[in-house]
Amino acid sequence: MKKLFLLPALALLGLLFFQGTTKTSNGYEVSPLEIMPDMPANVKAVVDQKCYGCHNAESKNDKGKAKLDWDAFEASKKSKQVAVMKKINEVVVNGDMPPKKYLENRPEGKLSEADIATLTSWSSGKKK
Ligand code: HEC
Repeated sequence: MKKLFLLPALALLGLLFFQGTTKTSNGYEVSPLEIMPDMPANVKAVVDQKCYGCHNAESKNDKGKAKLDWDAFEASKKSKQVAVMKKINEVVVNGDMPPKKYLENRPEGKLSEADIATLTSWSSGKKK
């Protein structure tokens, strides 16, 4: 099953490569190569631990799910991904996620300095 996706993904990757970098309205340089077709492993690790629980397709947290569904993220269009990444960058830079209320009972869910660096450099399209 997985293999079937490989060819179109590679073709897309080639296409994106020739397009070079895209500048978003926010002025971020986002290289499509860095977000497609997969997120870097270090970003995934942080997301898995600190964000995914509320932001997934099965989440009971309806508000969180509506705002961001990681299960849909990778399959969504690049333009959508870039928009979502901008939002992610915003909430992480502002320290709005994970929600403060949640952290009161789950201090271990707080982002470390390293987590913040990983998420912000990825979501702003910079190199690691
Ligand atoms: C405890 C559950 C929970 C966790 C953990 C959590 N979120 Fe959220 N997130 C929410 C909820 C609830 C909202 C909707 C908030 C609202 O609408 O006021 C939200 C909204 C968002 C939004 C949309 C903000 C907007 O203004 O559109 C982004 C982006 C986001 N979260 C990213 C993250 C990231 C990145 C992480 C991990 C670092 C994370 N979230 C962890 C519950 C969570």
